[in-house]
Amino acid sequence: MSKTSNINRVDGFAKVTGSATYSAEYKTPGITYACLVGSTIAKGTIKSIDTKKAEWAPGVLAVITHLNVDKPAGYEQPKKRENLGQPLQIFKDNTVRYYDQPIALVIADTFERMQYAASLIKAEYLKEEHSTELEKVKDKGKLPGGERAKDYNRGILDGYKNAEVVLEEEYTIPTEVHNPMELANIIAKWDGNKPILYTKSQGVEGTRKSVGNVFGIPAEDVEVHSEYLGGAFGMGLHTWPYEIAALIGSKKIGKPVKLVLHREQMFTNVGFRPYTIQKMGLGATKDGKLTGLTHEALAMTSNYEDFTEATVNMSRFMYDCANVSTKYRIAELDTCTPIWMRGPGEATGSFALESAIDELAHKLDLDPIEFRKRNHAEKDLEQNKPWSSKYLLECYEGGMERIGWKNRKNKPGSVREGEWLVGYGMGTGTFGSFRNPTTVKAKFLANGSLVLQCSVNDMGPGTATMMTAIGAEITGIPTENVIIEMGRSGLPKGPTQGGSATTSSVGSAVHDTCNLLVSKTLGLATENETFKNIPITDLSFANGAISSKKDTKKSVSLVSLLNNNKLEELSVENESKGSEEAKKYSIYSFSVHFVKVLVNPNLGKIRIAHVVSCADIGTVINQKTSAGQMYGGAVGGIGMGLMESLEIDHRFGRAINNNFADYHVPVNADIEKQEVFFVNKKDPISNPMGTKGLGETALVGMAPAIANAVFNATGKRVRDLPITLDKIL
Ligand code: MOS
Repeated sequence: MSKTSNINRVDGFAKVTGSATYSAEYKTPGITYACLVGSTIAKGTIKSIDTKKAEWAPGVLAVITHLNVDKPAGYEQPKKRENLGQPLQIFKDNTVRYYDQPIALVIADTFERMQYAASLIKAEYLKEEHSTELEKVKDKGKLPGGERAKDYNRGILDGYKNAEVVLEEEYTIPTEVHNPMELANIIAKWDGNKPILYTKSQGVEGTRKSVGNVFGIPAEDVEVHSEYLGGAFGMGLHTWPYEIAALIGSKKIGKPVKLVLHREQMFTNVGFRPYTIQKMGLGATKDGKLTGLTHEALAMTSNYEDFTEATVNMSRFMYDCANVSTKYRIAELDTCTPIWMRGPGEATGSFALESAIDELAHKLDLDPIEFRKRNHAEKDLEQNKPWSSKYLLECYEGGMERIGWKNRKNKPGSVREGEWLVGYGMGTGTFGSFRNPTTVKAKFLANGSLVLQCSVNDMGPGTATMMTAIGAEITGIPTENVIIEMGRSGLPKGPTQGGSATTSSVGSAVHDTCNLLVSKTLGLATENETFKNIPITDLSFANGAISSKKDTKKSVSLVSLLNNNKLEELSVENESKGSEEAKKYSIYSFSVHFVKVLVNPNLGKIRIAHVVSCADIGTVINQKTSAGQMYGGAVGGIGMGLMESLEIDHRFGRAINNNFADYHVPVNADIEKQEVFFVNKKDPISNPMGTKGLGETALVGMAPAIANAVFNATGKRVRDLPITLDKIL
């Protein structure tokens, strides 16, 4: 364990004391307040919209609708992502594409006046028949664009059908909503033709590009600040119409505009995990060798933009199986476009795959871990490549011991604690480990501090803490003297925070750039009198000083080196990216969630008695923030398994439970005991630190672990999430 592997969150104090500034909190002179008025039909056109009363209300600065909008230049020739449609062009015309779609923006001089004016807007519509139910458009699935969305086949098509033991089942997950604590929010303003956004984004550079496209200006002209985020879980991966609306509004009135979505709008206007129906077909020999696996998924998208995710992909490589077929389709519904929600498609897919594996193990009368071990994939059969590293078996072992797997009986309903039925279940997760090109600037200041700059955001995993730890580790500068500047444009370009790639991308860039900075410092030191005639290879840098390896008495502090050279700083800016060597390997993280549930057979109540989440994520850079990710991911999986579902009243195409009273997420009292275990072995290939991804795989596999545990407790197999008590009585 290194010195920095357990440091506290460097931004923790700022966050818990309220000194961290979130997007909507920037002090902005002349600020005005805006909100969006939503449509009250799910499909059709706006026949008329009466904004007069609102315009005449006190303090109102503007009411913008499709009738009076100054259309952004990019609306005419939008940059179409191939075959993917395009984001909703807010106020472009009178078309209503989903319920609560913004139809007007109201701006006033105070929050209260804005709210009041918004209540005065009345619209009349020409309604058309809407479609918000995936079950009803099952035959309307289309093949989306993109290489990995294509049909996949290895061996015999639907080869599972020929097996000795066959399982065919269908699994459904409902729409789930990210709903981070911090609402989607923006302060929008303009400097001439250059937009400035303080916004909730997971990708500063991505937001610059999409805003640039909408307004027909270069991305470089867009200034974005997104320095602190109160969670996002994927909803910050898209530039949403509310952000464009605020920019349009600000341009119109020539003043900064603050727009914070209402909690209700968080359920309807900023994406969600798409409702997905999955079919599994599994075949095995009587002694438990998988011979065939077919995984088909149909997921919803919107009627204007295609959203895709890797729902069926893990079925291609997770197990050693000769005949594997996957199919992925999307069908249009009259809703907002979905967006990746933590774990994204893999979490959805794992519910079907890991439930089906458990069901087949039960049919074979095999322990589900034993069944998995008999079908352990020694290499990636999809890509036909070796794994860079894989410690999945260690995760099984670590979890079995901690959860008390030996107390599990294969026969459901055979273990009791008082009146409670006891069930044990587990589910395997995985997620690709990616490394995106990242530029980091590292500089030593004349006071001995290290500054690290990168435009990457931190939506909560502890990116700044990770950067601090790696920078401190390489340079020997104490962590308290490391300064992080991140989360805004104008800094060296970092990647979007998504796909569990931040530590591998930004961490590697910090690692490489700090090494270059140390070399540059040593190079400068060779010119120093103290090190006369000593080659650079005989110099070392540690604890803020350069020393001769052979004669440690010869030492010059960094501070005096910079001062002697009259330098305020010494810096290196460097781009770091994945190696060619890495492409020869299949690089994945693995996780296994173990759950012990207690089920009351009379009431159907389910209690989560114990959760053990084990993961192979390569090197663990920081035990605290990594464990925090794992705890949080597992809690998200508990929500998915037991509680979360956005209910739509299909008569109106309208979300019913669009609030935290009715849309449930787990709280501390719902989970009695939770543990995290990391294998913590360096991946030799992934990147210089040997890390793999964490944030997503922390959730993948959790929902099926719960379903499997509930089955083990009760003998009831629930294939449509969430597992509410009515489904097990
Ligand atoms: Mo993650 S779903 O890429 O924020």
